[in-house]
Amino acid sequence: MNHFDYVNGQLQAEQVPVAEIAAQVGTPFYCYSTATLVRHYTVFTQALAEAGLDAQVCFALKANPNVAVVRTFAQLGAGADVVSEGELRRALAAGVPVDRIVFSGVGKTEAELTFAVAKGIMQINVESEPELEALSKIAAARGIRMPIALRVNPDVDAGTHAKITTGKKENKFGIEWTRAHEVYNKARALPGIEVVGIACHIGSQLTDVEPFRQAFLRVRDLVAMLRADGFNIRRLDLGGGLGIPYESEEPPHPAVYAKAIKDTLGDLGCKIVLEPGRLLVGNAGILVSRVVYVKEGATRTFLIADAAMNDLMRPALYEAHHTIEPVIEPAKDAPRLPVDVVGPVCETGDTFAKQRSLPPIKAGDLIVFRTAGAYGAAMSSTYNTRPLVPEVLVKDDSFAVVRARPSFDDMLALDSVPDWL
Ligand code: LLP
Repeated sequence: MNHFDYVNGQLQAEQVPVAEIAAQVGTPFYCYSTATLVRHYTVFTQALAEAGLDAQVCFALKANPNVAVVRTFAQLGAGADVVSEGELRRALAAGVPVDRIVFSGVGKTEAELTFAVAKGIMQINVESEPELEALSKIAAARGIRMPIALRVNPDVDAGTHAKITTGKKENKFGIEWTRAHEVYNKARALPGIEVVGIACHIGSQLTDVEPFRQAFLRVRDLVAMLRADGFNIRRLDLGGGLGIPYESEEPPHPAVYAKAIKDTLGDLGCKIVLEPGRLLVGNAGILVSRVVYVKEGATRTFLIADAAMNDLMRPALYEAHHTIEPVIEPAKDAPRLPVDVVGPVCETGDTFAKQRSLPPIKAGDLIVFRTAGAYGAAMSSTYNTRPLVPEVLVKDDSFAVVRARPSFDDMLALDSVPDWL
């Protein structure tokens, strides 16, 4: 469910024609719908509440770190899951209260840990013994014990794309399931550490609830084991990962996911922390682009868009599918012909879709890539010295540019030439 629909033959974002934004902002640009963000957050939190769970949703900023997007969630009561000092600063700038921020990631530096400890965030999810020791030193030097969860790796196959699977024992994430108890004991002995919970995240874009259930059952076993050993385990951070439909996937509804949590962990009296990213923002964003040329190749037709792999990496990186539609609604009986939709970047991987059946689209037409709100702008780069594309947030009948397009001067100003040249 989202708020990008054709109205009188024109694609609108809520009540704003997409073409109108394009005329003012230029293409390409990302466009987010506030109503869709709010709806996804509400559906998710209601599902958790209806299952009777005491839960805190911490939006995974990596999916979409735009400060206006994060503030939209913060105003609804969301916390934040951050993985770098930069994301932590964004969460703070967006007004997320410090006691709703968790810090995840395998490679937090001393500077990042120091910053997080100084800010007094809710919890750090520690992923290794060296990190545990480093954190303890930093916290103890300030005379405090930092609340932590150990991220355990439950060795469960999430059944998703290999590049976004994180909960298998060969992955770099978390502490091996079988060694968890030993590492918890080590954590308890450290002066700057206060063990409060367990964290686990098995992967992203899961379309089946079963792997979640398996991981949660392992967490359940660990809670029992640790409590029997005197640990006061009171928070379970179950990560993110619930998938969304890009094409024909049918991921479990949040209610089914919430029930799996309730059934496996609901009786333990723990606060549940969740870190959804994609689910909250994926369908709430589109990438709008203009077709520069239609090129008849030797064996196929290419639609060459002004957006490229640097703006939306997912197709090039994961062969991900994004639905492509023209901004002007095609006639119901319009013929559909297979075309390759590509960008202008100088490599063949700069391909959004191969042999996609699309209605007639000509040079100068606006097209949109749907379901681009998660890991779209967030993963963009300036490859080929293409400026990062602007981001626009729509609310009802208005819109605002929430990240401006940098000028070429802005881009060039980051480089400097040493005086020997
Ligand atoms: N928590 C942790 C510890 C994570 O590593 C992730 C995602 C999340 C939460 C949020 O997961 P989500 O709810 O969004 O599935 N760039 C890839 C996705 C990478 C996900 C990385 N970790 C893509 O475009 O599909």
